Amino acid sequence: METIDWSARYSVGVEKMDEQHKQIIGMLNRLVTSPEAHDAGSEAMSEILMTMTRYSFEHFRAEESLLRGHDYPDLEQHRQEHIAYRRKTIDFSTATGLGIEVVPQILIAYLFEWWTHHILEEDMKYKSFFAEKGVG
Ligand SMILES: [Fe+2]
Repeated sequence: METIDWSARYSVGVEKMDEQHKQIIGMLNRLVTSPEAHDAGSEAMSEILMTMTRYSFEHFRAEESLLRGHDYPDLEQHRQEHIAYRRKTIDFSTATGLGIEVVPQILIAYLFEWWTHHILEEDMKYKSFFAEKGVG
């Protein structure tokens, strides 16, 4: 799998969100390039995953509070996307905790697919909303 180079097309126009998305993309890239990426249940992988999960949840909180603070009309729909992600990552960690081997490649592919779709399609929907309000 290819790593992602953050470029202008990923920009949602709000600096704080762009910075957080860059961090997340950095973590995704680390997952792909990790030598243990094929090794189910490796410590290095679960370490990166844990950090990433924690950071993602913090990011969702920050993003939702920004959207709420400006009365973004589609906040609820956006929150549902975050909730689905949270549920999925919790499922993955439960499976790992139960000793069910989650193939890292499947997990990594899911995370890549989810984040690229989420930033480029879902987060992008608030770009013009904040641009009109002069929030950057
Ligand atoms: Fe989002």
